[in-house]
Amino acid sequence: MKFFIDTANLKEIREAADLGILDGVTTNPSLMAKEGISGTENILNHYKTICSIVDGPVSAEVISTDFAGMVKEGEHLAALHPNIVVKVPMIKEGIKAIKYFSDKGIKTNCTLVFSAGQALLAAKAGATMVSPFLGRIDDSGWDGVQLIEQIVHIYRTYNYKTEVLAASIRSGLHIIRCAEAGADIATCPLSSITALFNHPLTDIGLEKFLADYKKVNG
Ligand code: E4P
Repeated sequence: MKFFIDTANLKEIREAADLGILDGVTTNPSLMAKEGISGTENILNHYKTICSIVDGPVSAEVISTDFAGMVKEGEHLAALHPNIVVKVPMIKEGIKAIKYFSDKGIKTNCTLVFSAGQALLAAKAGATMVSPFLGRIDDSGWDGVQLIEQIVHIYRTYNYKTEVLAASIRSGLHIIRCAEAGADIATCPLSSITALFNHPLTDIGLEKFLADYKKVNG
């Protein structure tokens, strides 16, 4: 399973990249706003900076909600760097835009997916990736991982090439459950990735190994 980081924070992106296990980045307008990135030029430059840090897909989201606007924005974003993936919302105009981009060889990430039916439409339109938001589903009292399993099952049954990108991850356990469910990618906050390091027996074991070494080696 590939690991993407879900942030526009350059420090966190660098930290995750330094681990040597980072495969890509996802951003969204809220994450960009959180970092105080505003204005078209600044936003475009920020994407370029992210692409210079991580050698892998970087999702950049369109703001338009009409076909023509999405196409214009998406083509502009895709021209920034070969690793840019145009992130398009799961709406009717978005599906048309994904089909257009797919025919042109522009990579897409269909975002804001909350049902298997939406994921099916995204795959049929040729989306490169589909982003089911499992944390937000959990937040509303449903089982987000069940949706990941359902989409993986459908895509495997029909041999769709669209990758399942589990999004809205909230914990290390979410990452593990997505791996079990067969997600191709998990996009995670840095804290969920680093949570995977933790186990008290590792700490206790290491402490003992080092103490035993010291006993005989000084
Ligand atoms: C996906 O690409 C989104 O950026 C993200 O995972 C949304 O997560 P949230 O529900 O924590 O905002």
